[in-house]
Amino acid sequence: MTTLVAMTADFFSRYLAQAIGGYAAQNVESGRSAPEEAMAQSELEHRRLLPQGQSTPDHYFFEIRDDDRDSNDRSRNITVGTLWVAVIDKGGVRSAYIYNIEIDPAYRRQGHAKRAFVALESFVETLGLSTIGLHVFAFNRGAQALYESLGYVVTGLNMQKKIRSSDHPQY
Ligand SMILES: CC(C)(COP(=O)(O)OP(=O)(O)OC[C@H]1O[C@@H](n2cnc3c(N)ncnc32)[C@H](O)[C@@H]1OP(=O)(O)O)[C@@H](O)C(=O)NCCC(=O)NCCS
Repeated sequence: MTTLVAMTADFFSRYLAQAIGGYAAQNVESGRSAPEEAMAQSELEHRRLLPQGQSTPDHYFFEIRDDDRDSNDRSRNITVGTLWVAVIDKGGVRSAYIYNIEIDPAYRRQGHAKRAFVALESFVETLGLSTIGLHVFAFNRGAQALYESLGYVVTGLNMQKKIRSSDHPQY
């Protein structure tokens, strides 16, 4: 079974360092950030989102645990990934928003993310919320396939076109 367990403070500090690095890398890959700016931007954004770190109100940090039994019938209870979800308020409408989900590469395609999302729905209901939102980069086809399989629908699209730059533009 896949379960969500609140992160300890130690786990959280390791997690945050990884989340900042991971977000910077994704921003470079998507073309949102220049490589030399990406880390500083990601750190700034995380500081803005989490002024009180793990204790920032309305932010929840979970380890995703697999507590299935191994071949010797012993409980494995291992951490297979992480999940960060928050309650956001847009125009007076409160909903859950997933900032980050990651399954460790060794445990991917075993249904952990899918089951974590099912567990998340129960958690979100206990907060009195009825919607979960998230952002996914266009290059991340695997995550998009996961969300579609869970019934998530696209509510907007960012678009861009790369045009040739010139040192001497003529208009
Ligand atoms: C995206 C991610 C969370 C999926 O985790 P996972 O535990 O491997 O996903 P699941 O095993 O629950 O997948 C469920 C279904 O989603 C789809 N899916 C998941 N990963 C996929 C991939 N890489 N390619 C295509 N489809 C994929 C499949 O339909 C899959 O069912 P199947 O394995 O029976 O075909 C994981 O790949 C990951 O951590 N990626 C790096 C971080 C990331 O991109 N996070 C999302 C940010 S928006």
